[in-house]
Amino acid sequence: MKTEVCKMLGLELPVFAFTHCRDVVVEVSRAGGMGVLGAVGFTPEQLREELAWIDEHIQGKPYGVDILIPGRTETSSPDAPSRANQPHSLEDLLARIPQQHRQFMEDYCIKNNIPELPSDLAAALLNAEYGRINMSPTSSASLVDVALEFPVSLVVNALGTPAKEQVDKLHARGIKVASLVGKTEHAIAQVAAGVDIIVAQGSEAGGHTGNISSMVLWPQVVDAVAPVPVLAAGGIGRGRQMAAALALGAEGIWCGSIWLGTEQSELGTAMKERLFTAKSEDAIQSRALSGKPCRMLRSGFSDAWAQPGTLPPLPMPLQTLLTLEARLRIERAEVTEHMGYPVGQIVGDMQQESSVKTVIYDLLNEFLESTHRINQLLESE
Ligand SMILES: Cc1cc2nc3c(=O)[nH]c(=O)nc-3n(C[C@H](O)[C@H](O)[C@H](O)COP(=O)(O)O)c2cc1C
Repeated sequence: MKTEVCKMLGLELPVFAFTHCRDVVVEVSRAGGMGVLGAVGFTPEQLREELAWIDEHIQGKPYGVDILIPGRTETSSPDAPSRANQPHSLEDLLARIPQQHRQFMEDYCIKNNIPELPSDLAAALLNAEYGRINMSPTSSASLVDVALEFPVSLVVNALGTPAKEQVDKLHARGIKVASLVGKTEHAIAQVAAGVDIIVAQGSEAGGHTGNISSMVLWPQVVDAVAPVPVLAAGGIGRGRQMAAALALGAEGIWCGSIWLGTEQSELGTAMKERLFTAKSEDAIQSRALSGKPCRMLRSGFSDAWAQPGTLPPLPMPLQTLLTLEARLRIERAEVTEHMGYPVGQIVGDMQQESSVKTVIYDLLNEFLESTHRINQLLESE
């Protein structure tokens, strides 16, 4: 297929995979699409290691990284300083977590018999997790610098509008820039900052989402930013959804949830099993994980934060820091019914483990069947 993004990035298929797993990146790119590594949860050293592995295995095919690029500095004024641009030490942030929130998490663990971390490992385990949270523009910028050590073709920005100078720096290296948006206004601002590709993500999507569904959002964004190409994201796991996305004007598709059920995914067996038995309505929007609305699998953990009269979740990144220990305890002890993970509404279609190759094969087959069906409908007169 030769859509605008295929031509721009030298791809055979307009299929983009957002993933935290290097094996998925490699498989998708080798199949002709583009694997994009979600780097937000890596330290610079880990990212360097992952990208080196990808580079070694990808056989020269194009790939990308997804990083939270620092916002515009020029919009900050002394009267209204941009909070995003203020560096915070981990200690400062931890000190800002109210005691009653800490107590709430501790009571939750006791009430639900969540085992403690082994006392000899607890501090090291927690510190390792804290180190993986990129909370400041400085730490995100250092991830961009690591990405620039490799021949990445695409840098994707997960949140907010990148500074024009950041975009120019990437362009000067021949790297294209994409940004995720959930609203038309945001898409227009991204294009003004020089972004090359817009990823319009509907509310069905796994991870942080807005409220506008894909069916409504995609054509709105396509029209608003034309001729800048748009990738459709949110709720795409099969070929009919791919056909719909292209019919609505997208130049390609951007999928995240569907790779979680593959043998290459980063998830363990217990979490995958929970995904395979979940229905679409189990992919709820909650602020329990990060403080921002995030679509994820409903669990005892998200339920605890949804009880009437419960404390409100803290703003990002305090909620992530607050809940980190409890989530680590749940994960290590595999307390299945409390295990959650970001996932979109297509979880209801994911019933058994697959492989990246099979996902792509099925996607394209069903895409062809659906275009055939539409053609037949047009010919039936
Ligand atoms: C587990 C998971 C984590 C995600 N984390 C990020 C992230 O760090 N950055 C980002 O740009 N998008 C993130 N997303 C959103 C994806 O990029 C993508 O837009 C979304 O998964 C598309 O919708 P779908 O889940 O219906 O395929 C995440 C999605 C999932 C499922």
